[in-house]
Amino acid sequence: MADTGSFSFFLTVCVVSCLVVTADIMRPTLVGQMFVFELKREVFQSNFRIFQTDFIPYLTHYGPITVHPMAFKCSKEWFPDLPAWLRFTQRNTSENGFLYGTPLEENVGRNTIEIIVVNKQTYDTFKERLVITVKSPGKRLPYQAEFFIPLKDIEEVLPTDVQEDIKADVQKMWGADNLEFVNITSALDRGGRVPLPLKGHHEGVYVKLGSDQYFSKCLLRIQSPGHRLECEATGNSSGDCSTCKYFDNCVNWCKSELIDLSTPVLPTPAPIPGSGVMDAGEFYDPPESPPSREFLADYLVTVMVPLALAVILCLILTYVMCCRREGVEKRDAKTPEIQLYHQRTIHSNAGELRSMAGGRAVPPPLSTLPMFNARTGERMPPLQRPFGSDSSQIPLIMAQEEPNTDTLPR
Ligand SMILES: *[C@@H]1O[C@H](CO)[C@@H](O)[C@H](O)[C@H]1NC(C)=O
Ligand SMILES: *[C@@H]1O[C@H](CO)[C@@H](O)[C@H](O)[C@H]1NC(C)=O
Ligand SMILES: *[C@@H]1O[C@H](CO)[C@@H](O)[C@H](O)[C@H]1NC(C)=O
Repeated sequence: MADTGSFSFFLTVCVVSCLVVTADIMRPTLVGQMFVFELKREVFQSNFRIFQTDFIPYLTHYGPITVHPMAFKCSKEWFPDLPAWLRFTQRNTSENGFLYGTPLEENVGRNTIEIIVVNKQTYDTFKERLVITVKSPGKRLPYQAEFFIPLKDIEEVLPTDVQEDIKADVQKMWGADNLEFVNITSALDRGGRVPLPLKGHHEGVYVKLGSDQYFSKCLLRIQSPGHRLECEATGNSSGDCSTCKYFDNCVNWCKSELIDLSTPVLPTPAPIPGSGVMDAGEFYDPPESPPSREFLADYLVTVMVPLALAVILCLILTYVMCCRREGVEKRDAKTPEIQLYHQRTIHSNAGELRSMAGGRAVPPPLSTLPMFNARTGERMPPLQRPFGSDSSQIPLIMAQEEPNTDTLPR
């Protein structure tokens, strides 16, 4: 019997751990109530959900883990950005990140947030899903007060213990015991300046708390007539009854504000409809079916005219190129005979040189022979034979028997 019990317990544990590993992070919240989710680096350090710091035995057993620097990228699932009501902040990669905001009536339902975690030490990257279920109606907090904490940055206010400290301070001023945070905003989101990167300079944070209990006498001094004047004149108010346990958490009394939502705001009166008739002459009634426009002239001007011009130019060019060519005969007839002769000799010489270039073994060209008539191509009879084959014995004057065979005019 005991065996069956322990076995079923084991099964249950297995099933539950399977479910936990595959499930998204679920966080329910209410409309009009501050939502804060801390992206704890030590939780994301390992991909396994079992290492969540909520799981205290792990930490006590293995001791604190050295936490890696991490960067987070949060967006609504399938969207590039977060929902309008939710904001993300992380001072630097060695600090935890925070998702925070106050959902409104229109955000009721499942808000699925995709968190991409990049471990900056190991460069592990993985994805988490955070499902924020916003439920309506939220708590009714008709009396709200906003305080400005000048010596804090937004990340320093969002952790739960700091929120509790601030709430305790306000509780002392208000005397109410069911205070709730309604909004926490960095002063930078409300037109504040980025502080100098020096110790002791902070952005400042606006915190808004609400309760269903009316304001205390102390808080009501904010509404006293002299308060605003005194603040404007001296930056200080004599009615300051703020208290703070830690100096960092002290509020600026002059920037505090009370908001009374107990009396429902009257809806702005609907615009009064007029007679429904417009003044004559000012009304333009567009015709149901506008008259069709004739585009032929435009077409002709923009398409046909350039086309016709191009065709005409083409024809002129064709005529000039094909029909007005002066033939070779006409050119020759106009050229003086002497020029033609030069031209021809140049041609034939060039042709001869080309054929010589073809091979070195060919017999020497005729024009290089001594007894060669350039015009007829005939050679003189070998007169020098009787003197023997020794060319050194050829009389010079015989070799140049016909020194000027060229009969052409010079
Ligand atoms: C990150 O911010 C914290 C608090 O502002 C600071 O102490 C720490 O030095 C910063 N780390 C880096 C790496 O800038
Ligand atoms: C919270 O404060 C931010 C910044 O001032 C503002 O945009 C937002 O509407 C506020 N939300 C509520 C519920 O008051
Ligand atoms: C406000 O008054 C307190 C004393 O009442 C004084 O110490 C402080 O310097 C004053 N602050 C400013 C900004 O005048």
